[in-house]
Amino acid sequence: MTATKGLEGIVATTSSISSIVDGVLTYRGYNIDDLAVNADFEEVAYLLWFGKLPDQEQLQELRSQLSEYAAIPDEIITQLKLYPKELSTMAALRSAVSSLALYDPEADDMSRESNVTKTVKLQAQLPTIVAAIARIREGLEPIAPKKNVSIAENFLYQLTGKDPEETAIKAFNQALVLHADHELNASTFAARVTVATLSDIYSGITSAIGALKGPLHGGANEAVAKTLEEIGGLDQVDSYIQAKLDNREKIMGFGHRVYKNGDPRAKHLHKMSRELGEMNGDTTLFDMSVRIESIVTGQKGLKPNVDFYSASVYTQLGVKRDLFTPIFAMSRVSGWTAHILEQYENNRLIRPRAEYTGPIDQKYVSPELR
Ligand code: ACO
Repeated sequence: MTATKGLEGIVATTSSISSIVDGVLTYRGYNIDDLAVNADFEEVAYLLWFGKLPDQEQLQELRSQLSEYAAIPDEIITQLKLYPKELSTMAALRSAVSSLALYDPEADDMSRESNVTKTVKLQAQLPTIVAAIARIREGLEPIAPKKNVSIAENFLYQLTGKDPEETAIKAFNQALVLHADHELNASTFAARVTVATLSDIYSGITSAIGALKGPLHGGANEAVAKTLEEIGGLDQVDSYIQAKLDNREKIMGFGHRVYKNGDPRAKHLHKMSRELGEMNGDTTLFDMSVRIESIVTGQKGLKPNVDFYSASVYTQLGVKRDLFTPIFAMSRVSGWTAHILEQYENNRLIRPRAEYTGPIDQKYVSPELR
């Protein structure tokens, strides 16, 4: 038995949800480039869950279900108010989502019908929880979700209490589409491993949020924003990045386990970042990002991944950096739940082996003789 470090190149399951072939990402056979410019996030979520794009009636039905489920139990709001104000937003999200199971009488109902209902509920409730975390830790009251508006619009409204501009809704919707699913990434794998024990969907999503939190995965978008803040301006980019590279430190937002010639999602976020800068009359963050890219790609051959330009996009949309990874989660929950439903449909316990590298033939010696 020989281990492959990080399971690189190991094909661990079959899936008909999303695929990466020759650097092209598709959801259910639709190229991400097509969906990113044309689709609403709700259509994409439906596509991931049910395998086809919804017709007008199906989309309307999904939108009303999402509206119906978007409010979160009062007990969760009470719990969020008890969390320390200086919190890790991802730890808060992980805890709150885990607690949702306590207030859902159907949490352990394993029927497909119930799991589909919980899927839509989780998709509806995650944005409400993220907005509530953001407001409560600033001493503000959470804002109840609006009825019959898109997830992108509702989230921005719940965050600020103001009706967002059309351009912000459009940009945010596109970011949600681009983050919705990504084959067997670490958090999706964590979700599938958890539910393959026939544990419940809330456990699967809680595992996934824990895996997404790390800076080698979803936490990288926050780390990129921290880098931009630390650099401070275009003139300081070269010295800052060069020092990191000379020190053999990783530059967050670059590199990918699967894409070696570039992440197909990055170009959309690059464009969005430039457009938002031009619209706001200040392209500093975009210019800094482009300069960082030119140095890192020039010297290391590493290309930006989805997290790199999403940092300047969200910053320019006025979102605080410790909400970036929770926002990633409220999009990726569509993919996580699709994978959980797929896992339940054709389940087998996921239990690989380890190549043992420890000592052998040890003999027990009692404590007084050691
Ligand atoms: N900056 C500098 N060097 C890097 C970077 C980086 N961002 N990424 C990889 N490298 C180098 C490594 O140091 C290593 O060099 P070495 O062989 O000289 O030691 C080589 O490239 C291979 O890197 P690994 O970390 O082994 O590649 P792996 O496939 O395991 O990791 C990962 C992929 C985790 C994404 C890595 O590129 C990384 O840490 N990037 C920064 C974090 C990041 O942006 N994560 C988000 C990924 S996208 C997502 O999950 C949503």
